[in-house]
Amino acid sequence: MRKIDIFDTTLRDGEQSAGINLNTAEKLEIARQLERLGAAVIEAGFPAASPGDQDAVRRIAGTVKNSIVTGLARCHKKDIDAAWEALKGAEQPHVHIFLATSPIHMAYKLKKTPDQVVEAAVEAIKYAKQFFPLVQWSAEDASRTEPEFLARIAAEAVKAGATTINIPDTVGYATPQDYGSIFKFLKETVPGIEKVKLSAHCHDDLGMATANTLAAIENGADQVEGTINGIGERAGNVALEEIAVALHIRKDHYNADSGFTLKEIKRTSELVSRLTGVAVQPNKAVIGKNAFAHESGIHQDGMLKNPDTYEIITPALIGDAHTELVLGKHSGRHAFRDRAVQMGFELGEEQLNEAFAEFKKLADRKKEITEADLLVILTHRQIQD
Ligand code: KIV
Ligand code: ZN
Repeated sequence: MRKIDIFDTTLRDGEQSAGINLNTAEKLEIARQLERLGAAVIEAGFPAASPGDQDAVRRIAGTVKNSIVTGLARCHKKDIDAAWEALKGAEQPHVHIFLATSPIHMAYKLKKTPDQVVEAAVEAIKYAKQFFPLVQWSAEDASRTEPEFLARIAAEAVKAGATTINIPDTVGYATPQDYGSIFKFLKETVPGIEKVKLSAHCHDDLGMATANTLAAIENGADQVEGTINGIGERAGNVALEEIAVALHIRKDHYNADSGFTLKEIKRTSELVSRLTGVAVQPNKAVIGKNAFAHESGIHQDGMLKNPDTYEIITPALIGDAHTELVLGKHSGRHAFRDRAVQMGFELGEEQLNEAFAEFKKLADRKKEITEADLLVILTHRQIQD
């Protein structure tokens, strides 16, 4: 089975979400949990961005030992110097340098010709290699870059000493087919690419980040980047818990493993949500509140007979407590009786029918029936009989 390295950027790209601002202690707590989860690489911040970011990266690099810790840098010596100051105490110093390669970014943002961009990337990688054994180079906006130019600059980056080449879909524009083809093309055409790690980095602007990341894996990506709960710029980054669980549940298809300790997923998700203040949407895949909640009578009946009928992921897999059969107006008698028994009520057929009818009437008025509602209905039945 192939091992896919997970590069977690919750503390860098994730923290770039509007409204999120983590202090050093909070970042450290998340980094420790990411290490427990099994992230191969943790991007702890952007050291040149602020003294606070530099301090957080330095503290994390000095604490986390089982994951590689990295920091972001532009192709500027001062950024690389700031990263080295923060990361020189790390177990395996790693820096992540990026430069945009798409025509629109080169012309309008960088105001550089393609030749100047190649030169700046090569110079920055060579400079970083004097300090860092591990240098990742990212072609920002790679998915909107001319494939021939992308192959040319990737080859130069490998020659200059980059140990990972990252291919971001920076604005979430690619389709799975587009994105997979880029990886296939680079694998086939870039000299020396087999000696370095090829990495995917997807944003979710069109809701395709998970599909795109999986397409990259199918086409040879060795590493995938993303965040917990999918937080990040605009519509966010790919949600790493979705990738790890998809690889696990569909190992028949991907034959690849993320290295994540899956039962740490729920705890990690809750920690990130609590410290960032960003709630997880209830129907979010894998970690949403409703991901293991079943309301309809038909589904509940199936679940009680055999959970495999409607649940392809067990809550236990991700360290969640249990499946929830939510009692509401779509629920059936079977689930109602099951809950009554769990609550310690043994009802005869007639009592059950009456209690169930009362429950249905209430469920028409209330969105969700609580334990307290049930207690009233069931106790009331017991007293009457
Ligand atoms: O989305 C992106 O292009 C990035 C780079 C800095 C790697 O986050
Ligand atoms: Zn990004």
